[in-house]
Amino acid sequence: MKISLQEAAKRLKRGEVVAVPTETVYGLAAMLDNEEAVKKIFTLKGRPQDNPLIVHISDLEALKGLVKNVPATFSKVASFWPGPLTVVFDADVTRVPSVVRAGLLTVGVRMPALQLTRDLIALTGPLVAPSANVSGRPSATMPEHVEADFGADFPVLDGGECLCGVESTIVSLQDEAWTCLRSGAISREDLAKVFGSEPQAQVFSNKPSSPGQKYRHYAPHCKLQLCASSEELWSHQASGHFDAVLGFSETKTLLPLFSLGLKGDFSENLKHLYAVLRELDVKACHNVLVDVDFEASGLGATLKDRLERAAKK
Ligand code: TXA
Ligand code: MG
Repeated sequence: MKISLQEAAKRLKRGEVVAVPTETVYGLAAMLDNEEAVKKIFTLKGRPQDNPLIVHISDLEALKGLVKNVPATFSKVASFWPGPLTVVFDADVTRVPSVVRAGLLTVGVRMPALQLTRDLIALTGPLVAPSANVSGRPSATMPEHVEADFGADFPVLDGGECLCGVESTIVSLQDEAWTCLRSGAISREDLAKVFGSEPQAQVFSNKPSSPGQKYRHYAPHCKLQLCASSEELWSHQASGHFDAVLGFSETKTLLPLFSLGLKGDFSENLKHLYAVLRELDVKACHNVLVDVDFEASGLGATLKDRLERAAKK
């Protein structure tokens, strides 16, 4: 159910959860300081309790109220705000409820580029918002996707189709170094340029520094089989086991093709990715071949990451 900006603000202030657009994907938003509303998000999504939420702000002033300190390295990436970059800071634990941080001592913060989102936050204050999809499913890039997951009556602030169509890139900052915790709408290369260094390797352990990365993600109901070359794709196709191909305009196949556009136009490909993954289920595909015969550089790395995660059993 599409609602206006004023209505969205009113409902959020009443403690309701509302789906909101951003330039990346739709988010399932609640007020930062309303723990009951934040808990509702976890229940609605079926989200594991140990997966923290990103806090969305509309101006830099708000950052000071959420974090212990702003490290000097932040100045290197400050120009990406507003925009699809989430930065992990040491949290001011008296201001950011534990349920938002999933008990961590850090908080992920971003300032969305979409004016409509910032207008809403200006009315409500900081909003926590995970992607507006049932946990594990492809993210939502249109109001219709939110309604498909949460029902036609679920309140959605309508921002049309998301500009990026893929989540924000998440980084954490050290004194002289930086770590990329999730690839996203800003490429590693663009970040390396402003930092003047390559990212530190991420250390994975039982307690990963970005908990969400350990879960199955972005997956349609159908099974995806990744093909790293056209030969692989043709030999799988010949088996008769597959009913469709997820690929690009240039992908050669005899099966129905679900296209992400021109191969190598990665921002365009990412913009359509989740809608196309959802479309595979709408069209009742069962076994789908995926063309991953492309270079994983720039935003190609984000596209490959999402396809690999979507294909995980
Ligand atoms: O583009 C986006 O980031 C979208 C829009 C709605 O803003 N949000 C989004 O939220 O993708 P979500 O919850 O689907 O993914 C957030 C990711 C999770 O993998 C979570 O583990 C990680 O951010 N995260 C959140 N807080 C963190 C923290 N303090 N330290 C490390 N990772 C954190
Ligand atoms: Mg998500």
